[in-house]
Amino acid sequence: MCGIIGITGDGEAVEILLEGLARLEYRGYDSAGLVLGSPDGLWRARAATGTRSLGDLRKQAEGAPGACAGVAHTRWATHGHPTEHNAHPHLDCSGAVAVVHNGIVENGQELRRRLAAAGHRLASDTDSEVLAHLVEEELAAAGAGDPGGDTPGGAAIGAGGGVTTGGEAIGAGSPGGVTTGGAAGGAAAGSVLAGALRRALAQVRGSYAVVVQWAGDPERLVAARRVSPLVLGLSAGGAALVASDVPALLGRAERFWVLDDDQGAELVPGAVSCFGTAGEPVAPRALAVTWDLEQAQKGGFADFMSKEIAEQPQAVADTFLGRLRADGTAGLDEVRIGEDALRAVDKVAVVACGSSYHAGLVAKLAIEHWARLPVEVDIASEFRYRDPVLDERTLVVGISQSGETVDTLQAVRHGRGLGARTLVICNVVDSSMAREADGVLYTRAGPEIGVAATKTHLAQLAALDVLALHLAQVRGALGGPDAGRLLAALGRVPDLVAEAVARAGAVLEVADRLRSARDVFFLGRHVGYPVALEGALKLKEISYVRAEAYPAGELKHGPIALIEPGAAVVAVATRTPLWEKLMANVEEVRSRGATVVLVANDGDDETASLADAVLWVPPTEPLLAPMVDVVPLQQLAYGVARAKGLDVDRPRNLAKTVTVE
Ligand code: G6P
Repeated sequence: MCGIIGITGDGEAVEILLEGLARLEYRGYDSAGLVLGSPDGLWRARAATGTRSLGDLRKQAEGAPGACAGVAHTRWATHGHPTEHNAHPHLDCSGAVAVVHNGIVENGQELRRRLAAAGHRLASDTDSEVLAHLVEEELAAAGAGDPGGDTPGGAAIGAGGGVTTGGEAIGAGSPGGVTTGGAAGGAAAGSVLAGALRRALAQVRGSYAVVVQWAGDPERLVAARRVSPLVLGLSAGGAALVASDVPALLGRAERFWVLDDDQGAELVPGAVSCFGTAGEPVAPRALAVTWDLEQAQKGGFADFMSKEIAEQPQAVADTFLGRLRADGTAGLDEVRIGEDALRAVDKVAVVACGSSYHAGLVAKLAIEHWARLPVEVDIASEFRYRDPVLDERTLVVGISQSGETVDTLQAVRHGRGLGARTLVICNVVDSSMAREADGVLYTRAGPEIGVAATKTHLAQLAALDVLALHLAQVRGALGGPDAGRLLAALGRVPDLVAEAVARAGAVLEVADRLRSARDVFFLGRHVGYPVALEGALKLKEISYVRAEAYPAGELKHGPIALIEPGAAVVAVATRTPLWEKLMANVEEVRSRGATVVLVANDGDDETASLADAVLWVPPTEPLLAPMVDVVPLQQLAYGVARAKGLDVDRPRNLAKTVTVE
């Protein structure tokens, strides 16, 4: 998740871009950069100093030339280190085309190879840079490669007037007076730059929100999106704006539009026009904005936790992107541990803390079942001290959202010290763990601001499934048809997560019934047990209710003594292995007077008949079910905390990243 802003038609462009970046920092802050366009060419500044990036960029911008158009970017690294040479905007070979991008170019490596072979000089390690070179090629093919030539935009840009660029123009006829222009020009009659971007994007697989600026037509910006969001705006003074999200434009734009998937937009001073994939004019969708800045940064959600819960389908989909291949294999191109080395592995040791540890428990079941490899899972702070048996045939997998949790870092180091291969699953590019491990598999959840992990937990589960399938395939443990079936099921998970997320209202009603509970017991079996652990962790950390999770079969060995009328029990009762046995345990607590809340699959009335309240979720493959089944438990914890008036984003005594032992 990165942040983008572009503007044309305002003499204060630099200030507006920098302000926009500051408001988009919640989307990432690994680096910041901007480009300004003027008849003299493009001027670029970039900084990659982590949380200081924006301040450093601001200092550089003091020397910027006067310009009324530019694009800017704040980065959350997914491909390539968070260094200055990987910071956006990226330029083509001539420095005439600048691109800012949010998303993932799935075929980025393939395109890089093709472009390099064609003589392009790629200056970064990013997938995004290919977009600048593809546009460069397409401009050249259209006979417009030389920015020094005649008005290559081909479209007249009248001062403050409507534009004849093809799309349906929404123009400010004169500052202060807003008029909606009709469709101007025929199908595919956009500018040269828009045509070049459309043809460039036709070669790209993946997701993008992209804005391009070209020295040949420096006051025109062309934008396009697929999956990653973009909003458009017009100011009262006629400046045209584009950004990843509304906060960047608040107080600057007075009217807003949303760019839909596979649409593009042209921005010139005074007007914005939109086009479809074939360049045909399309009417943009108006957006009524009533949020203040803080509400807008939370996307209109009451807090970051609910926003991040809602972002989970995207986090899972992005984590799968390019890794579930069309040929039925799960690919880990970026992992840097060769297939021979993976075949030689005879044991996996997973180390992690908190929610990451729970993801590891699910991974154990998946890796053992699919890859037939023994897996140990340790709480990272205990690992080194039990003198684990590790050697060069062990694969140590560290799971950490931050990549900085010191216990996990030390556990990974310990494995490395004993000669084991080390692989880290983490969300922060170039974090300490990512730098030290032999291989990294990044989750692509974007920055998570709420202290309690939600979307990063789901992204970890997604990444671990890809790892488990890859191990299984490399080791020949999983037949083609089984792998194909699982890959197809994985591909459907983002939609199932979205369905589960959409049921928040019903979960909040159940939460209201639990708000005064003193103790809540979470039960699960098999894959349901880690889900129960995660549900209990969420409840205790944000709502301060005592919550304990047990493998349901263990109930009779002690915990059942605590069950009395009024006790609340939440059980993960979806149709996963051992469902029948779990339901017998549910009967036991029910008969002792507990209030029973069950997570159940849609339409499963048999399960529902034993519940006082049901949290419905769509069914999926058992080993994939934790990604779906945990969603209502996150919402349950959220609902209880909110009902108690607590700050869900900043729970007491907790830190997002724990860097002390
Ligand atoms: C803290 C956070 C948890 C997180 C745990 C592990 O306790 O509050 O949400 O699960 O650390 O963090 P990591 O960054 O290593 O995943």
